[in-house]
Amino acid sequence: MPDDAPIILAAAGEPLMERQFAARIDSLAAAEEWIDLLTTRRHADSAYSFAVLHEGVPAGNVTVSGVERRHLTGWISYWTREEARGRGLATRACRAVAEFAFAELGLFRLELAHRLDNPASCRVATAAGFLTEGVERARLLYDGVRYDTETHARLATD
Ligand SMILES: CC(C)(COP(=O)(O)OP(=O)(O)OC[C@H]1O[C@@H](n2cnc3c(N)ncnc32)[C@H](O)[C@@H]1OP(=O)(O)O)[C@@H](O)C(=O)NCCC(=O)NCCS
Repeated sequence: MPDDAPIILAAAGEPLMERQFAARIDSLAAAEEWIDLLTTRRHADSAYSFAVLHEGVPAGNVTVSGVERRHLTGWISYWTREEARGRGLATRACRAVAEFAFAELGLFRLELAHRLDNPASCRVATAAGFLTEGVERARLLYDGVRYDTETHARLATD
């Protein structure tokens, strides 16, 4: 929702959030542009983003992106705001978006990956039914440092 721009801006500045947006979110205008992009992607059937609510207030995001109609696959991502973490929100949101992607979008295989040094994300993925499929060595490069990632996937039939 366009009204969520101040929340997106605040969230983007929180710990562990520096890699969560493909764009740099350093102003209200940038946050509004980001929300516009999410809307465009939804209309294009390429990505579906949802707010994760904590006590009725947006406190996170869960997204199925990379919607691929040939192979019926999608990519899941999630984040929650610092004060809302550790309450099971991301796990519930990840499960819910998976159910949405299978039931409403008709996808068959959902993938996600996390850096090996992100155990909380691994817990979320596993608890939401995403089985581990393996480690990709040195998959990501941030600030001159390479990071291994672990891939998880959940199938409609799991
Ligand atoms: C990863 C993230 C989404 C988890 O959100 P959350 O709402 O706290 O998730 P949940 O409460 O559903 O579950 C968190 C799990 O991680 C565990 N956890 C948290 N910090 C941990 C740590 N440092 N080491 C190991 N486990 C940890 C919690 O104990 C919990 O597991 P449990 O249910 O077995 O006890 C949140 O920390 C976040 O937004 N991080 C920054 C963005 C990010 O990394 N996104 C994922 C990118 S792949």
